[in-house]
Amino acid sequence: MRQRLLQWYAEQGRDLPWRRTHDPYAIWISEIMLQQTQVKTVIPYYTRWLESLPTIADLAVADQNQVLKLWQGLGYYARARHLHQAAQQMMTHHQGEFPHTLPEVLALPGIGRTTAGGILSAAFNQPISILDGNVKRVLTRLIALKRPVKKASKQLWHISDQVLDPVQPGVFNQALMDLGATVCLPRTPDCGACPCSDFCRAFQQNMQNELPMREEK
Ligand code: ADE
Repeated sequence: MRQRLLQWYAEQGRDLPWRRTHDPYAIWISEIMLQQTQVKTVIPYYTRWLESLPTIADLAVADQNQVLKLWQGLGYYARARHLHQAAQQMMTHHQGEFPHTLPEVLALPGIGRTTAGGILSAAFNQPISILDGNVKRVLTRLIALKRPVKKASKQLWHISDQVLDPVQPGVFNQALMDLGATVCLPRTPDCGACPCSDFCRAFQQNMQNELPMREEK
């Protein structure tokens, strides 16, 4: 399944600006913007941000007004304040470098497990799994999980760990996200175009339109 997904991604994956770099700072900025904002909206903000504040040091010493201005229109402004604080912490505690270990990254403000895995896998090819909304849906269908997703987070993290490609975890995580964003869609998944349909329990059971289960109230 990994080979099929990676092959599909090489041919059909989206060419997004943060995928053209291994700079952990740039990837971090993109992941924070993408937490609550769509790809299409994020692209011009990401480009402007990196032109104005190209390094961790630039962000750390920038004034709050400039930071908030660069964020203006994206909403959830705590994200921008956390970026600013985290850059200052990197100057103080990490010699101005983006940290390389999961515990250090998780200790920064505004970074949870999926964001940390997204950054460390994309920037340093570390084998750390992710579980954002798109990936949850893909994995739920892959194993035909018949439980509300919110109650199965531990199980889904375990599946994400198990499917992760040990050789190309960075590319693999991007491929899983793209599959969820472009093929394994919430309402009408395009199983005919899916590189993983041979391995998908939901597809085998013709349950792809029923899964993930609606959440209980
Ligand atoms: N959403 C969160 N991270 C993403 C990424 N790296 N590419 C596309 N969408 C994303």
